[in-house]
Amino acid sequence: MIIAVDGPAASGKGTIARALAAHYRLPHMDTGLLYRAVALNLLRWGGDPESEFQALRACDFSQIDFADPELKSETAGGIASRISVYPAVRAALAQRQRDFAGQAGGAVLDGRDIGTVIAPHAEAKLFVTARPEVRARRRFDELRQRGVTTHYEDVLIDIRARDDRDSHRAAAPLRRAEDAHLLDTSDLDREAAIAAAIALVERAR
Ligand code: C5P
Repeated sequence: MIIAVDGPAASGKGTIARALAAHYRLPHMDTGLLYRAVALNLLRWGGDPESEFQALRACDFSQIDFADPELKSETAGGIASRISVYPAVRAALAQRQRDFAGQAGGAVLDGRDIGTVIAPHAEAKLFVTARPEVRARRRFDELRQRGVTTHYEDVLIDIRARDDRDSHRAAAPLRRAEDAHLLDTSDLDREAAIAAAIALVERAR
C-alpha cells in the first residue's frame, strides 16, 4: 500500500506520515528533506537560489547527512521553497521518490505533490491542512523550544509566503488531488489527528 500525505508547511503532515508508517509498518520518506538538502548544498557552496542551473547542480546527496539538524532550519526551508519551483530540480528529485514509493510492500511519503505527481496511483491519499494562524503558532512554539528567538507575526508572514509560492508555482503546485481525503488539523491535538488519519486510510484501502 502506498500512502501519499500532502499539505502545507506545519499542517501536521510529517507527524501524521510518521505515525501512519509506524502503524502500518511501512517505510517513510519526508520528501521535503530532499528539497532542503538541495538548499543546504547551495548555502554551503555559496550558490545562487535564483539560478536554476546552480540549483540543479546542487541536486547531489553524496555529502548530505539526512539527520543534520541544519536541514530543519528556517533558512534551509525558505531556500527549499524557492528552488522547488524549478522543473529541472523537481525532475532530478522525482526518480528517487518514485523508487521509494515503488518498493515491495509499499511506503508512506509526505510532501506537496505526492498524490498528484509522484504517486498518483497511491491507494490512500490525505491532504492535511490547518488554518495559517494555527500553523504559524505551531511553528513558532517549535522554534522557541529549539531556542530560536523569533516573533509570531514573522513566522505567520513566512508561512503565508511559503503557501503562496508552493500553491502558485507552475511546476507541481501544492494542491489537493481529486481523490485525496481532506484532513483539517486546526482543532485537533496530535493524538486526534493521528486517529483521524488512520480512520481515513482504513476507509480508502
Ligand atoms: O515540507 P518542508 O517544509 O520540509 O518542505 C520544504 C519546501 O520544499 C516546501 O516549502 C516546498 O516548497 C518544497 N517541497 C516541494 N515538494 C515536496 C516537498 C517539499 O516542493 N514534495
